[in-house]
Amino acid sequence: MPKLYINEGKKLSHINPEVYGHFSEHLGRGIYGGIYVGEDSDIPNVNGMRTDVVEALKKIKVPVLRWPGGCFADEYHWMDGIGPKEGRKKMINTHWGGVLEDNSFGTHEFMELCAQLGCKPYINGNVGSGTVREMSEWVEYMTFAGTSPMADLRRRNGREDPWRVDYFGVGNENWGCGGNMTPEYYGNLYRRYQTYVRNYNDQEPIFKIACGPNGDDYGWCESLMASCHNYMDGLSLHYYVCPNGWNHKGSATEFDKDAWYKTLDAALFMEELLRRHSAIMDRYDPEKKVGLIVDEWGNWFDVEPGTNPGFLYQQNSMRDALVAAVTLNTFNKHSDRVKMACIAQMVNVLQSVILTEGDRMLLTPTYHVFHMYRGHQGGDLLDSCLVGAGQTGTPEHKVPSLQESASRKDGVITVTLANLSMEEEYPVTAALAEMVPTQVEASILTGDMTAHNTFQEPETVKEAAFDAISCSGKEMSFTMPPCSVVSLRIR
Ligand code: AHR
Repeated sequence: MPKLYINEGKKLSHINPEVYGHFSEHLGRGIYGGIYVGEDSDIPNVNGMRTDVVEALKKIKVPVLRWPGGCFADEYHWMDGIGPKEGRKKMINTHWGGVLEDNSFGTHEFMELCAQLGCKPYINGNVGSGTVREMSEWVEYMTFAGTSPMADLRRRNGREDPWRVDYFGVGNENWGCGGNMTPEYYGNLYRRYQTYVRNYNDQEPIFKIACGPNGDDYGWCESLMASCHNYMDGLSLHYYVCPNGWNHKGSATEFDKDAWYKTLDAALFMEELLRRHSAIMDRYDPEKKVGLIVDEWGNWFDVEPGTNPGFLYQQNSMRDALVAAVTLNTFNKHSDRVKMACIAQMVNVLQSVILTEGDRMLLTPTYHVFHMYRGHQGGDLLDSCLVGAGQTGTPEHKVPSLQESASRKDGVITVTLANLSMEEEYPVTAALAEMVPTQVEASILTGDMTAHNTFQEPETVKEAAFDAISCSGKEMSFTMPPCSVVSLRIR
């Protein structure tokens, strides 16, 4: 029988709440319609933000939100999105679907959204097609309290106090859509642009993030660390699970056993990426002052039939839930280096936690995983290991049958486990080193591998209480059904 050992006396690292972060781009219905509907909409809203979506997001404690892109960031000129809305530039979103971008959601609206969510803003600046001055003035506009051209402009636009900008990204995917640069060229630009991302008002300095590698491009990581590690607080990493390749991504909801294990295998590759990028970073930064910021991750499948291919709107099944579960466990285990991660993307784009259609909203299986894992935010990672669980899968794609992580915060131990098998159940005994629990609360997410929520049946997959746990001293025993995620909260 698989046994999970949790050494509650051994703290390994701190899990930043930001590891459970999100990303929203001006892409498809990610912002317009999905989050922002405008103050005059019939859809209930507060200052233009959908009330249903904001309330649902508050329940998963969104810690940080990255905006405005993605590829959109390196084409975004922030001044187009401030001032009276009727005067804002109307333009084409050339990158995503060629639709009208009316700039009605800009800096003020983004900061309003963050305030409603209670999350930290992560602004991604434009290096690809923007100037140093433009980036520098955006920071001045947002954060300077005194008298200056940009601070005064902000006041004229109705905002007296500066906002706090916690995180600032200097370009996005500059090896690709952000300018097709070499690492040497971008490294030089990074050093220059970041110089003018000023810290005003004696507040906590802005955390500056350099554009990091695309997946396993270890050369980019090496080059950026060599040239810039003293000038950055974080280095980004983007990795999407697209196991069939970019031309034949496959359906989000119609897939077979092979695709199930192939996808999970590809998701587990995140572990190797974190290990190898961390090893490079360790050589330049043994004290781990520079965070690895996985600010785009998730599944990338075919768009839903009949939808705009440029909108990247995809459904979300139990397969997405398992990918989220194993990826978040992996981030927890690497939280000594991984200081932030943002799922792509929060609403209606790629592996979303929420889908909307008109005034309707549904919570995806991935949403429920974020809810079940929320106890890890700000916790201390505990030493844990699974023994005797073995492997499952196909001959080409073997994956561990079970995978886990454990943390403690405010005296509560959170343990999250994933059963990667789509057909086998596993009895599990979880054993603490010394503590005898007085209370164990648990929840479970399970269903057929393709199970998903629709607007007609929005609760096919949902988190449920999990009571079938027997406790004996320091041990808790239960059976994990196939294709399931379990969360234990132990006191
Ligand atoms: O998340 C969708 C796109 O994927 C982003 O705009 C880009 O950064 C990445 O290639």
